[in-house]
Amino acid sequence: MPVIAVVGGQWGDEGKGKIIDLLAGRAHVVVRAQGGDNAGHTVVNPQGKFALHLVPAGIFNPASECVIGPGVALNPEILLQELDALHERGVTTDNLIISGRTHLVMPYHLLLDRLEEEQRGSGAIGTTGRGIGPTYYDKVGRSGLLVGDLLDADRFRDKVKAATQRKSFLLERIYGVRPVDGEAIATRYLEFGARLAPHIAESEPLLERALRDGRTILLEGAHGTLLDLDHGTYPYVTTSSCTVAGLLNGAGIGPRHLTTALGVFKAYTSRVGAGPMPTELDDETGEHIRDRGHEYGTTTGRPRRCGWFDVVAARHSVIVNGFHALAITRLDILDELDELKVCLAYELDGQQIDYFPTQAEELARCRPVYEGLPGWSTATGDAHDWKDLPTAAKDYVKLVEAAVGVPAGLIGVGQEREKTLFTGALP
Ligand code: IMP
Repeated sequence: MPVIAVVGGQWGDEGKGKIIDLLAGRAHVVVRAQGGDNAGHTVVNPQGKFALHLVPAGIFNPASECVIGPGVALNPEILLQELDALHERGVTTDNLIISGRTHLVMPYHLLLDRLEEEQRGSGAIGTTGRGIGPTYYDKVGRSGLLVGDLLDADRFRDKVKAATQRKSFLLERIYGVRPVDGEAIATRYLEFGARLAPHIAESEPLLERALRDGRTILLEGAHGTLLDLDHGTYPYVTTSSCTVAGLLNGAGIGPRHLTTALGVFKAYTSRVGAGPMPTELDDETGEHIRDRGHEYGTTTGRPRRCGWFDVVAARHSVIVNGFHALAITRLDILDELDELKVCLAYELDGQQIDYFPTQAEELARCRPVYEGLPGWSTATGDAHDWKDLPTAAKDYVKLVEAAVGVPAGLIGVGQEREKTLFTGALP
């Protein structure tokens, strides 16, 4: 009864979509367990190229069941747009189930996300503006609205009325903006609810049955460990739990069922939004990586900050996730570089350190200590096997594996599913 968690090891955008799509073909159940449409997964498969935000990548395998779990923050309008776009391209979505416990992103969450960012001024986090932070703080404040609430119109109207009264007070008194219209919001959301109703179900019995029957469950991570609310570069983080433990909790699966924790890492580093990134390259090499890797956000289109692979940050991810294996993606993006660097330690205020500092201000002062390696100046995209890779590329991967302390089970050398090399190290 394999339960496989696929988690981003860096600041998101590690290429999880492709790895998940690849593994989803063999999974019976695929669960999205946290985050919302602030995530964007690009999937390229025989049906075409897709940018998914909420729908689990298992949707392309009609034989697998897809679940949006209780840990997700769900904007129903965005989900419906995504479902419509999939239908237009001939992808069936009957196999999608949404837990009634999933929290709803409401229009005032989007508004508050924007207003709070404006108020932060130069300290802005650079959120995706999808209302995810405000949705989660209402969840923690026990005043959120659930997908299950959409199934009872009267109760939903009452709850929206209470919520919008509180939010309108905040909007008018603190931010000096117009109040929100609870009645209009409730009517619109009930229309979304009517369309989503066939998908709303109890996810726990489904998962329990799958575990009992020994079926394969894939937990699809969103964002990345360094954006995790507890373990990331706080406050420059997202508001969900992006780790293996967070996925298990967000799906509603007990930890003893986990069999494989796969950490996805780009062969380099990228980050969108604000916050420290010690190996960021503000030069031609950084630009080369961004251009060659088309490093622009799937959700917001923002250019991503690019830099060398950071072993210190990666080890922090390994500690808090306990990965069995790594998937190293986008090795081909480095094909044309003459020299490569890997950050093995930091220098902080004149001292060499090998841990990932808690304080964002300290991390911002860290200078990377690099080891240089020769490039391979060969296209790796045609490799079908680990043995086909040029020696310098293999040495690069081996250095990363040894420094991080976890074997690489998969290596990505292109966007398509088949451009993935299996090393045999995947448990
Ligand atoms: P939020 O999740 O929209 O609140 O944004 C908080 C921070 O997380 C910002 O720096 C975003 O750019 C970043 N972020 C959120 N989701 C993703 C993602 O899927 N990939 C990369 N960065 C993300």
